[in-house]
Amino acid sequence: MLKFIDFKKPSFWYALASILFNPTFWNIVARQEYHNRLLTKLAGGNPRRGCYGLALTIFSLGIFRDYLYSQALSEQPVLPLLQTGMVKLVAAGLFLWGNIFVLSSMYALGVTGTYLGDYFGILMSHRVTGFPFNVSNNPMYQGSTMVFMASALWYGTPAGILLTAIVYLTYNVALRFEEPFTAMIYSKRKQ
Ligand SMILES: *[C@@H]1O[C@H](CO)[C@@H](O)[C@H](O)[C@H]1NC(C)=O
Repeated sequence: MLKFIDFKKPSFWYALASILFNPTFWNIVARQEYHNRLLTKLAGGNPRRGCYGLALTIFSLGIFRDYLYSQALSEQPVLPLLQTGMVKLVAAGLFLWGNIFVLSSMYALGVTGTYLGDYFGILMSHRVTGFPFNVSNNPMYQGSTMVFMASALWYGTPAGILLTAIVYLTYNVALRFEEPFTAMIYSKRKQ
């Protein structure tokens, strides 16, 4: 029988754990910062330095997650059905668009805007409405999901498609925590 996904490979579970861990980690830590100024205290009372520390940590965890994901895919069965030029083309397009979304939103928001600066009290002076925010509400998450899907399709692994679906769900759950919280932070400023 053709095996689509090999659940016996530990690398699959490491990738899954890291996908679930990252947004959980940054939400817990950012809320600690908001309520107790934990990272600002660790950074010697400098919120900007605290935010850069968190940015570096989240960025590194992201690189590590990407590494675990590619390790997992390299050990998974490949579906011949997915090994066509058309699928590779779609994968390349998703890779390109995903990276354009991620990099352009980082550029538009800056480091503190990208990495939860609002939890540190570093608020944006105005809402960013230019590209990519005029085509997507959450270009960072959507872009990241597209890049995950791109790898899954490029290597033709159903396991990658499943992990990408979990990335998608994880980001959507994260947004349910992040969006109201960020709105609350900004509404307090207006008062
Ligand atoms: C979004 O902004 C970019 C750059 O300013 C522009 O080229 C593009 O047409 C805009 N897209 C939409 C859907 O408004």
